[in-house]
Amino acid sequence: MVPAKALLHPAAKPLVFALSLLPFAWLFYGALTGNLGANPAEYLTRSTGDWTLRFLCLTLAVTPVRVIAGLPTLQRFRRMLGLFTYFYVVLHFLSYSWFDQSFDLAEIAKDIAKRPFILVGFTAFLLLTPLAATSFNRAIKALGAKRWQALHRLVYVIAGLGILHFFWMRAAKNNFAEVAVYAAILAVLLGWRLREYLRKKVSRRVVVSPKANPTASR
Ligand code: HEM
Repeated sequence: MVPAKALLHPAAKPLVFALSLLPFAWLFYGALTGNLGANPAEYLTRSTGDWTLRFLCLTLAVTPVRVIAGLPTLQRFRRMLGLFTYFYVVLHFLSYSWFDQSFDLAEIAKDIAKRPFILVGFTAFLLLTPLAATSFNRAIKALGAKRWQALHRLVYVIAGLGILHFFWMRAAKNNFAEVAVYAAILAVLLGWRLREYLRKKVSRRVVVSPKANPTASR
């Protein structure tokens, strides 16, 4: 178990930052040394897609783990993990644009319109962009907490689209084992939030209900 104090250590954030950069460093090193297998382009696109989904899961796991483990200081890593999700999806998109489409914007647009799994991935990427852009304190202040929260609820739609994108891609190969693992993880994380939301709603109703609280109507 991680002690709450360790999460507040000045080295904790740089450590999480360095760990989050490891997959990138590993891929970069592999590309330089020619160690990415028989099809390095495909390897890069797929690995960056995998890391996007992994960081999305990690970001969504912060709040449930924080609450269940009673570690409020865990929250300070959520923004960084969210921004790494965006970092890896940008690399994923660049890898696809470079190796599959030679940075030809007209071809990219045609492919998005032609292949539904690309359209779904691209939509998730577009939706992630305002979340990354508004993850800073200034943006939170400018938007106001309520509007910021409403905007950041898009992350659930993005998670659904990410899984659909992965599912659709694997459907051609009839290979769903990994997709099922990620779908199960995201279902547990989103299910926990839904349960919390309903629990809070019910307890709020109990507090304001005149039957439960006769003074509330006065
Ligand atoms: C949040 C957004 C996205 C997520 C979570 C995501 C995730 C993934 C995952 C998990 C894979 C499969 C990797 C594997 O087989 O191990 C994948 C593959 C792929 N994705 Fe994405 N992706 C996203 C956005 C995009 C975008 C914007 C594009 C391009 C417009 C794209 C194009 C591709 C391509 C071309 C593949 C490989 C297909 C193949 O090799 O047959 N993805 N993505």
